Amino acid sequence: MFTIGQQEIDAVAEVINTRKLFRYADLEAGRAYACESRMKEILGCNESLLVTSGTAALICGLVGLGIGPGDEVIVPAYTWLASAGAVLAVGAIPVLADVDETLTLDPADFERRIGPRTKAVIPVHMAGRPSDMDRILEVAKARGIAVLEDSCQAVGGSYKGRYLATIGDAGAFSFNVYKNISCGEGGALLTNDRRIYERALYYHDMGSAFRGHTLSEPEFLGNTYRMNEIQSAVLYVQLGRLEGILAQLRERRNWIQDAILAADAPLKLSPSADIEGDCGVHVSFLFETGEARIRFCERAAELGCKLGSPIDSGKHVYTNWTTLLERKVGVHPKMNPFLWPENQECRIEELTPECCPRTLDLLTRTATVGVGFDQTREACEAVAEILCRTAREIAGNG
Ligand SMILES: Cc1ncc(COP(=O)(O)O)c(C=O)c1O
Repeated sequence: MFTIGQQEIDAVAEVINTRKLFRYADLEAGRAYACESRMKEILGCNESLLVTSGTAALICGLVGLGIGPGDEVIVPAYTWLASAGAVLAVGAIPVLADVDETLTLDPADFERRIGPRTKAVIPVHMAGRPSDMDRILEVAKARGIAVLEDSCQAVGGSYKGRYLATIGDAGAFSFNVYKNISCGEGGALLTNDRRIYERALYYHDMGSAFRGHTLSEPEFLGNTYRMNEIQSAVLYVQLGRLEGILAQLRERRNWIQDAILAADAPLKLSPSADIEGDCGVHVSFLFETGEARIRFCERAAELGCKLGSPIDSGKHVYTNWTTLLERKVGVHPKMNPFLWPENQECRIEELTPECCPRTLDLLTRTATVGVGFDQTREACEAVAEILCRTAREIAGNG
């Protein structure tokens, strides 16, 4: 969760004093432009485009990749509904795949679910935890599948030394209020591919209506997802805070994890594809059964430590995507990609509440404790102590 203060207030006041709230009022002197430049510097990628939300960034990424009707896109069954909704927004069909114990896309299941119409995959770095990008890229490259990283929950996270959102063909960030840094609402598309960027640029600005110049890609009409200068001013300050926020989160996550490991308690930490790059938002535990997880959480709560479980995280769990599972997309029936002739050879019938049982099992067996970036070391160690005590008590009682 982000932190915000006087610096953001001053930055917003400065923009208001200029009266230039629109990013194209003075493009290269503006805050949106400055954010894009700063993101490119921080992340080491060639292109960055600010948009109004993480969902818009995903949609622009899919448009940039040329995804549309007749295409399938593989999406993990544990993610915010928007990862799959973005696929439908460009007229394509999402195919769900299981997550593994890291609660990110299982590369083996991704490979199993590939069909003749699969054009892209969206690995989602959930709760700041990186997906296994090496294996995902290996499969994707071998099968000619584009990779759009959903890094909405992992701004600033990395995998083997590379920033998430810059490893695949393109990546999306969200800056909504649940993220590591925030400007209320917002998003960004990151890519090293000029073609993806140019198409996204057209798409996010009604065919580049305001920027008004022609790029090397052919022009087309799009949508309007332009970022404004007030939010960008907040975001620019937030970008400066990112490294510090992540360092604090990771330090506190390590205090909790290290205390648990040192105590050698009968408690299994969930694996991570790269613990160093993990943003440190949560510490996760994996239990043998859902019942064991519930029993553990109840006892830990009695002792003063509240845990959550991803199975209770609402529309992050695919079985709660009622509109999608019931094929209710848009108001006008002709705007529903599930009904389009081009999509009838896509595996629409596989989108059922039963399609990803392993994901449901793993989510039910996982418990998480949130990490607060300003928690003291004592508070972190007290959490660890309660968790170890709970685990020992339960193990002792058989
Ligand atoms: C994994 C994931 N993808 C996409 C999104 C969409 O981001 P936004 O709410 O900014 O549209 C979110 C937002 O919470 C998310 O968590």
